[in-house]
Amino acid sequence: MKHPPPFFARAWHTANRDTLLNPPIKEWARFYLTRSTVSVDPFARNSSLANWTNDLNPETAANFHMDAFDFLLHLKKEGVTCDLCIFDPPYSRAQVKECYEGVGRHFGQADSQGFTGNWKKERDALDSILAPGGVVLSFGWNSSGMTLARGYTLESVLLVCHGGAHHDTICIAERKQS
Ligand SMILES: C[S@@+](CC[C@H](N)C(=O)[O-])C[C@H]1O[C@@H](n2cnc3c(N)ncnc32)[C@H](O)[C@@H]1O
Repeated sequence: MKHPPPFFARAWHTANRDTLLNPPIKEWARFYLTRSTVSVDPFARNSSLANWTNDLNPETAANFHMDAFDFLLHLKKEGVTCDLCIFDPPYSRAQVKECYEGVGRHFGQADSQGFTGNWKKERDALDSILAPGGVVLSFGWNSSGMTLARGYTLESVLLVCHGGAHHDTICIAERKQS
């Protein structure tokens, strides 16, 4: 993609388990990835698009296998500053539970609250390592993202319809104000 993505676009494509491999999403994300120097993906699964990749599940191809919050704190401790983040956590409480139980981790009340709080502590930790002017690409079933309250402006929304009664994938790009 040569030009900046439109503020709002809608595409159609069959659902893909790997979000960033879904063609319209990959194309949309590529605009930001090709302009980034240091990128971070705390919920990467097998995606290697970012420089720093992490996934809780040790059977994935990510470089680190930590809880996303601990991973982001680890990067901060190491002095890493990024200009792009792919933020693609599980999309529902049931998906979080399934991920945690799949790696033998108990899914407790705090995890449930973390999910309904839109990954607040993880987003705060991410904000602490993202340079001003940097971009966060958030994916899910809501468009809440990093929010204006943290100083982010909405730059682009891509809605990907998967047909039938499937949930759309909502993709938003937000830029941290300088
Ligand atoms: C929606 S998938 C990511 C898909 C990936 N972005 C792609 O394009 O293929 C969410 C991932 O987050 C991981 N995950 C769930 N909870 C996590 C946590 N607390 N910390 C780190 N990773 C987590 C899951 O194992 C799962 O692979």
